[in-house]
Amino acid sequence: MFDADFGTLVNSLPTGVVVTESNMKIVFINDFAKTHVFEFSLGEKIENLKDFKFFDSDLLSFNMSGCMQNIIRKKKRTFQKTLIIKTANNKEKLVFFSVRRYDEVKSTELYLCVFSDISNEMNCILHSPVAYTKESLLLHEKIIGKDPIIRDIYRKVTLAADSDINVLIQGESGTGKELVADAIHELSDRKHAPLIKINCAAYPESLLESELFGYVKGAFTGAIHDKPGKFELAHGGTIFLDEIGEISLSLQVKLLRVIQEKTIERIGSVKTSRVNMRIVAATNRDLRYLITQNQFREDLFYRLNVFNIMVPPLRQRKLDIPLLANFFIEKFNDSTAKNIKGINRDALKLLMHYRWPGNIRELQNAIEHAFVLVQNNIIEREDLPLEITEQSLKEMHFKHNQDIDNEFSTDKLPYLKRRNRLNITKKQLFEILEQHNFNQTQTAKYLGMSRVGLWKKMKKFQL
Ligand SMILES: Nc1ncnc2c1ncn2[C@@H]1O[C@H](COP(=O)(O)OP(=O)(O)OP(=O)(O)O)[C@@H](O)[C@H]1O
Ligand SMILES: [Mg+2]
Repeated sequence: MFDADFGTLVNSLPTGVVVTESNMKIVFINDFAKTHVFEFSLGEKIENLKDFKFFDSDLLSFNMSGCMQNIIRKKKRTFQKTLIIKTANNKEKLVFFSVRRYDEVKSTELYLCVFSDISNEMNCILHSPVAYTKESLLLHEKIIGKDPIIRDIYRKVTLAADSDINVLIQGESGTGKELVADAIHELSDRKHAPLIKINCAAYPESLLESELFGYVKGAFTGAIHDKPGKFELAHGGTIFLDEIGEISLSLQVKLLRVIQEKTIERIGSVKTSRVNMRIVAATNRDLRYLITQNQFREDLFYRLNVFNIMVPPLRQRKLDIPLLANFFIEKFNDSTAKNIKGINRDALKLLMHYRWPGNIRELQNAIEHAFVLVQNNIIEREDLPLEITEQSLKEMHFKHNQDIDNEFSTDKLPYLKRRNRLNITKKQLFEILEQHNFNQTQTAKYLGMSRVGLWKKMKKFQL
């Protein structure tokens, strides 16, 4: 495995590659890992991965040998995690760490570790000089996605978290709005105070009012003791008003008052209390349309929509489907006794062509469904819910094959005619850049265009 050819090949990669034994003694390390990831000089020797400090998203020390042991114990082959490492120059770097176990080689167990440095990428997203901190790790691990739209969401979440303004999160059902709200709270200075959530669609009007404002004993029949409302409970922290589009006009007036005066009165009480909370609201309805229908107050809309985050539907970020599918496979592998290795091409193709009206939640459910049916440790077409298979096949039938190839596959790009090369989409270009670790020379070569030509294209797409 480690002959001269292997060395030459792996040394040409712009990614850190390290092969270790199970005690983490280094058997092979490529030049990039040595000089760029761990920041040693080429001549220096690195003996063992144990000599380095790694941290995970809680900024706790990450136990690399524990990780290897865990892989063996769980009979897993692969493991991925975003980590912070301390380099030889005592610098912190954000890396995407991925390890694969080989046990075929000479009866010893070997681990192929890949370290991709994502510090710069995160710096660009977050516009912050020290971005590879807990914040970026948390976002990267919780809100999965590589699509440029998701990077924009990361940026907005950090901006929102840094300020104290009200945020309105909009997006279809199952797109991850609640995840975004969680992240805003977690990354904000309010993280040590509570995040109180309330689903406004889950209560009839009068009950919602008493949930939000609380009441005093005797305020109405059944009010046998004082009860604080969600606004009071969120004091110092954040209140997440989910499904805000569903609240009645009279409650909208009351909510507006809370926002303007930052005070509340419990039902049945004349005592006014000050509340200090940040409001994050979410809805899957088009509030501007509701305003035109006189179902939502315009003044309240502007008070909530100080900062807007629009979470895209899954069908607009199809490139993230394989990534999310694997994320859920890992998640269910951990929570069940199964060890599913992945999803086959045929099934993935179906997932890619489906329109996902229920978005990421529906994808998660589809993978969970497949876990029940799967036979051979690889998810196949038959394991997916029938309605997804049927709908997806219909979609494929309507679409011309060539269209499909252009949209989802970059395999054919090197052979594309000049005309098509010029018509390359932003998505395709981003994907090819990513495949080449954002190395412009290699990407230009791959596409058969000049570096200047590539640079112009990237500029045009604002990449
Ligand atoms: N980017 C993502 N990465 C990983 N998991 C995600 C992502 N987005 C959503 N999910 C998962 O999908 C499910 C639905 O997400 P969430 O509840 O945040 O959606 P929502 O927009 O609030 O939906 P609804 O409008 O129906 O309330 C959750 O289990 C969540 O963990
Ligand atoms: Mg929700």
